[in-house]
Amino acid sequence: MEASFSLFFVFILSLLAVTKSDNPVFDVLHYGAVGDGQTDDTNAFLEAWKSTCASDSSSSTMHVPSYKTFLIQPLIFNGPCNSKGVIVQIDGNLVAPIEPSNWKCEDDNCHRWIYFHKVDGLKVRGHGTIDGHGDDCISIGDGTSNLKVSNIICGPGHGISIGSLGKDGANDEVEYVTVSDSVLIGATNGVRIKTWQGGRGYARNFVFERILFHETSNPIIIDQYYCDHEECITSESAVQISNVTYSKMLGTSRRKIAVTLKCSESHPCRDIVIDDMAIFSRGENEAQYECSNVTGPDSEPVSLLATGFTDRIGRTTGRTG
Ligand SMILES: *[C@@H]1O[C@H](CO)[C@@H](O)[C@H](O)[C@H]1NC(C)=O
Ligand SMILES: *[C@@H]1O[C@H](CO)[C@@H](O)[C@H](O)[C@H]1NC(C)=O
Repeated sequence: MEASFSLFFVFILSLLAVTKSDNPVFDVLHYGAVGDGQTDDTNAFLEAWKSTCASDSSSSTMHVPSYKTFLIQPLIFNGPCNSKGVIVQIDGNLVAPIEPSNWKCEDDNCHRWIYFHKVDGLKVRGHGTIDGHGDDCISIGDGTSNLKVSNIICGPGHGISIGSLGKDGANDEVEYVTVSDSVLIGATNGVRIKTWQGGRGYARNFVFERILFHETSNPIIIDQYYCDHEECITSESAVQISNVTYSKMLGTSRRKIAVTLKCSESHPCRDIVIDDMAIFSRGENEAQYECSNVTGPDSEPVSLLATGFTDRIGRTTGRTG
C-alpha cells in the first residue's frame, strides 16, 4: 500500500516535471508542417502557436527549423498567452503565395501577412528569412510593449516599421521595443517610425542597434506627417515620440538622404540619440541627413549638420537629434 502510494507519488511528480518543463519548444514540423515551399503550412503554424501560447511556463518557444521553406497564408498569432515569455525562433524560410490574388484573407486582413496580436513579452528571432513579397517585413502596431526583434533578414519591401500610429485621431501607445542584429537588403525603408497628424498617445523607449543596411532607400526615418492620401492637414496633436536610440547603424543608402527625422511641430521628438553610424550613399554622393523638430537627451535642439553628420564618408559619432 505504502509502496504503491509512493510509486503513484513519483509518477505524479514526473508528470509534473514533464508538463511543467520550464522552456518547452514547439517545432512546427511536429504539427504537420512540411516545409517544401509548396504545401500550405498555415494550419501547422497555428497549431504550434496554440501550444506555445498556452504553455504554462516562464518561456516557451515556437520553432521554425532551418533548411526548409514554409508557405504561409496570412495568419494571426493571437494572445494573450499563458507563457510569460514567448519566443518565435525562425531559422527556416517563410514565404507568402507569390500571387497576391492567391492570398487567403479572412475578413479585412489582407494588408497583413504575419500578425502578432496582444502578445506580451514576445521575442522574434532566428537565422531564417521572411519573404512576404512586399510592404513591411515587420510592422509594429498600437498596444505593443516589451517586444524584442533580433536576427532578422529583411528585404525587399518596406522594411521594419513602428506604426503607422494615430490614424484618424487614435490614441496609440507603443513602448519598449528593441530591434537588433538585423539586416535589411534592398528595402524601400530601413527602420521607420510613422505617425499621422492628429493622433494622440506615445511611441517611446525604442532601441535600434546593430542594423546593417544594404542598398536601402531610406535607412532611418521618423515621419510624423505620415499620410497615404493627398489631403492631410497638419494638426495640433500628435503621437509623442521620445527616447529612441539608434546605435551601430551601418551600410549603404540608395538615396542621398540617409536619415530623415521629420517630427511634429506641436510635439517635437525628444531624447533621440544617434550613436555610431556609418551609412554610405550610393556612388560618389556623400550621405545627407534631414531633421526637424527633434531634440537630444539634453533637450537642446541640435542640428545634424552641427555635429558632423555630413562627414565625407558619412560616418558619424555622437548623439543628437
Ligand atoms: C529609454 O528606453 C530604454 C530602452 O527601452 C529604456 O531602457 C530606458 O529605461 C528608457 N529611459 C527612460 C528615461 O525612460
Ligand atoms: C519645426 O520644423 C520646421 C521645419 O524645419 C521649422 O520651420 C519649425 O520652426 C520647427 N518648429 C519648432 C517648434 O521648432
